[in-house]
Amino acid sequence: MNPAPKGLRLGVNIDHIATLREARYRGQAHGEPDPVAAALVCEAAGAHGITAHLREDRRHIQDRDVRELRAQIGTRLNLEMANAPEIVAFALDLHPDIVCLVPERREEVTTEGGLDVVAGEAALAETRRRMNGAGIEVSLFIAPDPAQIAAAARVGAQFVELHTGAYAEHFDQKAARNRELERLVAGACQARELGLRVNAGHGLNYRNLPVLHLVPHLEELNIGHSIVSRAVATGLDAAVREMLGLLAGYAG
Ligand code: PXP
Repeated sequence: MNPAPKGLRLGVNIDHIATLREARYRGQAHGEPDPVAAALVCEAAGAHGITAHLREDRRHIQDRDVRELRAQIGTRLNLEMANAPEIVAFALDLHPDIVCLVPERREEVTTEGGLDVVAGEAALAETRRRMNGAGIEVSLFIAPDPAQIAAAARVGAQFVELHTGAYAEHFDQKAARNRELERLVAGACQARELGLRVNAGHGLNYRNLPVLHLVPHLEELNIGHSIVSRAVATGLDAAVREMLGLLAGYAG
């Protein structure tokens, strides 16, 4: 079993930088904000890794973004992806440090539930073998559910990413929050006993993160929406002042 992790690592999910760009520049080769430039800022600020989800519908991150991330970032690239042949081929060619296999439905706003590893065990094991054969680590994004965790171990994944969406959703209801926390604690312990390394993510923010410290064995948290939202809030003042500075040069 791997040694106990020291300190939590942060993977910043930059999908929503691309969401904003696509809202204005869909179909164009350039546009702002640039998720690759944003990733470099995250790294300079101390992030331990960059996470991007190349969806089959390409609603935010585009192929060129991931290729540029691979070329430019100095930390670890975690590619979130569906277990779909086209994306698997792309990942094998791209060679991220790790892939996190996630479920994908076109109508969802974001990744809503965990993977059903029990139902998809054979196909996931095959992709796990191909990725590991290419030197790419594999994580499975799953609910903290005993059957799913056991299946993740049978698949031979190196990591599970425990889905914290239900915890985040129930954070303000004490009983429900504690129930979800207990599921995460039990899931992390079970995963660790089975030799899996444990990450977590989805819906984590500046309020609910400190309480998540009660969950043992966590190595890395993947966080996107709340960081991008906070960046908009904290960066707006400077952005407006800079534009006002440009307006001030007007001579009539
Ligand atoms: N981890 C996984 C597997 C995800 O699918 C997502 C959402 O794309 C995240 C983490 C980040 O979630 P959030 O944007 O809510 O922080």
